[in-house]
Amino acid sequence: MTEKEIEKLLNWYSKNKRDLPWRHTKDSYKIWISEIMLQQTRVEAVKLYYERFLSALPTIKDLAKVKEDVLLKLWEGLGYYSRAKNLKKCAEKVIELGLKELPQEKEEIEKLPGIGPYTAGAILSIAYNACTPAIDGNVLRILSRIHEDNRDLLKKSVKEEYETKLKKFMTKENARDFTESLIELGALVCVPNGQPKCEICPFLTVCKSKEHNTFMNYPVKKEKKKRKVEEKTVYILTYDKKYVVKKRGQNGLLKGLYELPNIDKKMSKIELKNYLKEQNYQINQIEELKEEKHIFSHIEWHMKPYVVILKQISNDPFYSKEEIEEKYSLPTAFKKIFQKIKE
Ligand code: ADE
Repeated sequence: MTEKEIEKLLNWYSKNKRDLPWRHTKDSYKIWISEIMLQQTRVEAVKLYYERFLSALPTIKDLAKVKEDVLLKLWEGLGYYSRAKNLKKCAEKVIELGLKELPQEKEEIEKLPGIGPYTAGAILSIAYNACTPAIDGNVLRILSRIHEDNRDLLKKSVKEEYETKLKKFMTKENARDFTESLIELGALVCVPNGQPKCEICPFLTVCKSKEHNTFMNYPVKKEKKKRKVEEKTVYILTYDKKYVVKKRGQNGLLKGLYELPNIDKKMSKIELKNYLKEQNYQINQIEELKEEKHIFSHIEWHMKPYVVILKQISNDPFYSKEEIEEKYSLPTAFKKIFQKIKE
């Protein structure tokens, strides 16, 4: 890879870049929000959240002050909710330090919660045009294919070697476009699934895996751990068009979000009926729904859902559908089931 290919890359980017909302700003706060949202999340999904989030919380100060329930409602459905909590912690820290915006030095910004080397590199180069490469899985895919690199790409030493390599091509003038152009190449040309579009790639003439047609071997895949399957009974507990949702505990998966009543095993209709009767619920009817699956990064929930219609209201917190939709952040796993209620 030489200056010539980098020139071709930047040229290709200027002609082919997608018009994305966060590409209209240099505000480090907005770039930061976009980068955190884009972790493990598709661009199309992020588009739906980014503008709404920034309208609700236009400055880092607003984010530092926001109530957790409001924040989680803005994040509802995006998944990996620790990202949202870290955003708030990070904003609080910046304000506590007496800063008006995110620090411009790599060592300082990396000390903040939720900001690792990739995110630091992305924010600093995109917002401040600093010569700090941003190397994520997509950029590593491109680099490993160009070099037919068989090494473990998650190793710090490998990433640092590539960082040093890329840094040489970055200038105060091109840093922002340099970072974005590699991201764009990974998304549009050197794609993860399916045939890469090598004919239009700026690295066509220097790419070893193009030369040997070995793109499918790179990046070298590690054997994936199997997800743990957890079986659950989830029920919509309802009385007079009101429904029960409760805040989850402050530990474990989906902590601090809201949930439908649930039990950590699959129950038949009879078992659920007896279970609820034992707790003195006055049941009118139980309706069985189709099983649902929800996949998290390391866990799968296999859920047996029911609608439990009560004869008499219980001591639980009941809300209307509108109230739940407006105020309480119900993770997608539960939403899939809650959406099944008839109007
Ligand atoms: N993925 C990570 N960062 C991105 C960005 N700035 N634009 C598009 N996709 C991205």
